[in-house]
Amino acid sequence: STVDWEEASYDTAGHAHFLVKEIHEQPTSVERTLSGRIDQRFSTAHLGGLNMDAREARAFRRVKILGCGSAYYSGELGAQLIEELARIPAHAEPASEFRYRNPVIEADTLYIAVSQSGETYDTLAAVQEIKRKGGKVLGVVNTVGSAIARECDGGMYLHAGPEISVASTKAFTSTAIAFALIALHLGRVHDLSPADGRRICAGLKAIPDQIRQILEQEKVIADLAAKYSGHEGMMFIGRVRGYPVAREGAQKLKEVSYVHAEAYPASELKHGPLALIGPDLPTVAIVPDDELRDKNLTAMGEIRARSGPVLMVGHTAPDPKLAEDCILVPKNEPELDPILLGIPLQLFAYYAAVALERDVDKPRNLAKSVTVE
Ligand code: G6P
Repeated sequence: STVDWEEASYDTAGHAHFLVKEIHEQPTSVERTLSGRIDQRFSTAHLGGLNMDAREARAFRRVKILGCGSAYYSGELGAQLIEELARIPAHAEPASEFRYRNPVIEADTLYIAVSQSGETYDTLAAVQEIKRKGGKVLGVVNTVGSAIARECDGGMYLHAGPEISVASTKAFTSTAIAFALIALHLGRVHDLSPADGRRICAGLKAIPDQIRQILEQEKVIADLAAKYSGHEGMMFIGRVRGYPVAREGAQKLKEVSYVHAEAYPASELKHGPLALIGPDLPTVAIVPDDELRDKNLTAMGEIRARSGPVLMVGHTAPDPKLAEDCILVPKNEPELDPILLGIPLQLFAYYAAVALERDVDKPRNLAKSVTVE
């Protein structure tokens, strides 16, 4: 079941749909998520709402992130950021699975619940179960005063503004930004150096303008989406930092265009999905300029050798033999690059849905907020 749509109180501000309006809002919604939270002096993040002093923040040995749908995928990006910057083992899990498996709740684990609406029933139930067993839960939530926000011991509001379209875009990106801030904060109470802290602060500040640059490629991305939307299915691949980006990219495409989309780690191609590859199944390859670029290019070569079309999303164009098409995004710090690599995939999903004349803002069978089990 669903909560009532609040559409009446908002409008698309000249855009054809809320989805594309919300994609375009991201430079400013990200600025709001960052606002007042970067501490230049100590190269860290200022997050008073966590209600946690440095000693308490240092005591956690593990981080567990819970959410549903895109909130879960943004949690996967968050887990990676926390492991990379703070070197604390971190994992994301669908809140719906977590709450049904009688989870072991540990005092030295920091639990983080993610929700745009703050009302998703499975996420709320997970928070309640953790609290009942004495665990500490923070919320990364967009909607102020929502059930999940009220239930948590502290947390961060995204300040992304109302998100109307069923498919999450600006809340996803702002959640990733929130996790970058949490990771920076946890990193700086551990062993992240002031120099690395400064590097991440500068990287975060550059993101809004870099998103603007990506949005300028809208026309090219729309043409690519129209071209690829004729296929019945698409594969999304990435490795380590690129893998959560691939998962969310596939999620967005299937939600709004109904084109079957599957995400795989590029490293797992040969363990199954390569059997599907051929001229009818294009692949979107997420290829940041990092230490895994060559491995990703090898995977693309394997796909091309089986006549699979490849659309690469990355920083540097490859040998044209490896990718028929390419979307390039501006480079940030390696840890933050996944946030930017996700933006063109939102436009890609949107324009695929438009080309297929789908009900973009209200895809069939889906609800913005799922408030029952
Ligand atoms: C529904 C929506 C998704 C959303 C998920 C979690 O499935 O269709 O777009 O990601 O719920 O919602 P939340 O409000 O908890 O982030």
